[in-house]
Amino acid sequence: MPIVTRITELFGCRHPLQQAGMGGIATPALAIAVAEAGGIGMLSGTVGAAALGAQLDAVPAGAVIGVNFIVPFLDRAGVAEAAARSPLVEFFWGTPDHELVEIVHAGGARAGWQVGSSAEAAAARDAGCDIVIAQGVEAGGHVRGVVGLLPLLDEVRTVVDLPIIAAGGIGTGRAMAAALAAGADAVRVGTRFIAATESTAHDVYVDALIAASADDTVLTTAFGDGWPDAPHRVLKSAIEAGERLGAAQSWSPDWPSSDYVGAADARALYAGQSVGAVRERQTAAQIVAELVDDAERSLQPPT
Ligand SMILES: Cc1cc2nc3c(=O)[nH]c(=O)nc-3n(C[C@H](O)[C@H](O)[C@H](O)COP(=O)(O)O)c2cc1C
Repeated sequence: MPIVTRITELFGCRHPLQQAGMGGIATPALAIAVAEAGGIGMLSGTVGAAALGAQLDAVPAGAVIGVNFIVPFLDRAGVAEAAARSPLVEFFWGTPDHELVEIVHAGGARAGWQVGSSAEAAAARDAGCDIVIAQGVEAGGHVRGVVGLLPLLDEVRTVVDLPIIAAGGIGTGRAMAAALAAGADAVRVGTRFIAATESTAHDVYVDALIAASADDTVLTTAFGDGWPDAPHRVLKSAIEAGERLGAAQSWSPDWPSSDYVGAADARALYAGQSVGAVRERQTAAQIVAELVDDAERSLQPPT
């Protein structure tokens, strides 16, 4: 049975599963593949307004593909363009801002905010957001809060009545089912899609994810050059490799894309506690189908 939620109804997608907006990994190829598989694909507005415009040109009409912005690096012209051309515009890493939400609504899109606490979820609601993304501390990439996903979902559900997307540590259909059963209207998946065949991640990065399990990740501020005091979850091996490089190491927050030349193993290898579910490169369609099929089976009542 297809899982119908407030998110599938709001955006008209087949499945309550969103690909996380992830810097340069969230390319049109990945977002389109996720949307064609029935999920919500995401682009990254952090590429700048001109590059984002070109990416949006590649999106087929009617595709359920949103745009994600990191607040300290955003460009308001890009937000207006995204709002006029996509159904969902969402923000991360900043106090929920009524003016940004108004730009989104003026363009005709729904506004979302990824939050790390129930207080931030209430602020997102008060700023006029249509949905919130509750990010647990298990998440890969930059991590907003300190609370695990299940208690966070409980708190956010108590405080706000908006549709909630659950993020952080969700890499299997069982985890997806658990989040939906705990009150989420959809799940957001990041780390699994780094290993999608449509992802631009370096092979060294993907191989490190395949070899890792949850306790190989760590929350750190190590890769903080240019974005300090912003905790992020990476593979511990990346910090160890960087320390071995000594003075040659750059602690920039950039992850290695496929064209990176140099010690890719010492770059910011972001990974959530979902990393144990990454076992091989798979197409985005295979990843979506695997999660959704297993979640649907897990949510079936016992016969
Ligand atoms: C490589 C990587 C890059 C990310 N970049 C962003 C980003 O640009 N904007 C954002 O809102 N979240 C970003 N995140 C966090 C995700 O939105 C999401 O919270 C996280 O991936 C969920 O945990 P998971 O990786 O275990 O699935 C990133 C995560 C990863 C792994």
